[in-house]
Amino acid sequence: MKPSTVNTGAEIRRFPDGFQWGVATSSYQIEGAWDEDGKGPSIWDTYAHTPGNIHNDDNGDVANDHYHRHHEDVDLMRDIGATAYRFSVAWPRVFPDGAGAPNRAGIDFYDRLVDALLAAGIEPYATLYHWDLPQTLQDEVGGWQSKDTAKAFADYAGYVSGRLGDRVKHYFTINEFASFVEGGYQGVDVKVGGDEIVHLGAAPGLRLSDSELKQVRHHAVLGHGMAVQAIRAHGPAGTKIGFADNIRVAVPTIDTPDHVAAAERATRARNAGFMTVMLEGRYTDEYLAEAGGRSPVFTDEELGIIAEPLDFVGLNVYKPGWYVEPSDEAPGYRDIPINASHPRMQSSWHLLDPEVLYWAPRLVQNLWNPPSIYITENGCGASDVMAHDGRIYDSDRVMFLRACLGQLQRATSEGVPVHGYFLWSAQDNFEWMDGYGNRFGLVYVDFDTLERTPKLSASWFREAARRNAVV
Ligand code: BGC
Repeated sequence: MKPSTVNTGAEIRRFPDGFQWGVATSSYQIEGAWDEDGKGPSIWDTYAHTPGNIHNDDNGDVANDHYHRHHEDVDLMRDIGATAYRFSVAWPRVFPDGAGAPNRAGIDFYDRLVDALLAAGIEPYATLYHWDLPQTLQDEVGGWQSKDTAKAFADYAGYVSGRLGDRVKHYFTINEFASFVEGGYQGVDVKVGGDEIVHLGAAPGLRLSDSELKQVRHHAVLGHGMAVQAIRAHGPAGTKIGFADNIRVAVPTIDTPDHVAAAERATRARNAGFMTVMLEGRYTDEYLAEAGGRSPVFTDEELGIIAEPLDFVGLNVYKPGWYVEPSDEAPGYRDIPINASHPRMQSSWHLLDPEVLYWAPRLVQNLWNPPSIYITENGCGASDVMAHDGRIYDSDRVMFLRACLGQLQRATSEGVPVHGYFLWSAQDNFEWMDGYGNRFGLVYVDFDTLERTPKLSASWFREAARRNAVV
């Protein structure tokens, strides 16, 4: 009998050399220490402290207590084979009021974290805005409704890159524009059985009109562009900058040139307020005509700032936006309804289609050809429990990761310039509207004792990272 070989499949499912195997988190979701060492309140502190906003009235006051346990967390990341870590800096920890005098103790925390990461051989990638806006900016200028917030964001970004830039070489300005703009400044009313309507939203929990919302989007992308300029002015030469956006991906159902062209048109149109304007420096005509053409108000100079050239584009990719097919009528594509029986992961929004890990970077390359792409988030929520033997068998997450990374590998093997993947999340944490009721981690956290236990998926990740391949 022929001797069996060890998974030769993994040898042909390899990623390019130097590919980063990262894990990701964000400040509000894991740090805790919400009012320690001079930190100011953020809009998420206020929102989560308001009864009824979050499942079970959970909040991030303690969360994973990462602020005090970051050494243990860095050790865990090293043990699961992560080569990179995407964390976010809490703006109100560094500038308690959003602007003015920095809080020394706040930036010192990130100093210590970065040193610990580098000592463990893990490359730090910092996100500057993962939604925890200083409450003072919300109260005094209306948050992202004002251009003053964009300006304050740039000042803060410049300061952080000046302080950490000798060690942190990669920055993501803003995480998921649509999530905090649409969710925080408009939200949606959802029917929940009978006639009961619930309003789903995010901090700061406002309900603006479509026209007002477009102005908020404009200030957010302007803040991104101003921050890119500030980081280039204050960080060392060679600092690499991009954004991390949850692109709305139109997935073609058939891989033919006409179907792919329809998906490109749809993807460009549906991302007009964020990714398209940041990568093209103009709003599409269709976008400007929406909401009666009343907004956004902007100048050519601002468009130039918004489209500052980037070193990479970060894509948070969990699910397909929708499916399309070509159409002879304008706009050249037609949406396809999603079948009621289409499979989902645990989160109600999480439509399952691993192919989106192929289409997202490929469509972005076709449309805008950025120098480099990172998958800045991908992962799934699951109902993980500890079994009697003390282990956590998250077989659904392993299935999800294998399938998604298989599709991402297909993209890299075709030459799409994806240079790294960040799994959401390094450990279970506070999951916004769901509180602690939906687990996304490679590491299980007991939220009573805060004890951490790596899951089955952590073993999968370690082996994949070690072999730089889908295993
Ligand atoms: C966000 C994370 C969030 C994850 C899972 C992304 O939208 O950036 O903060 O926890 O998805 O819902």
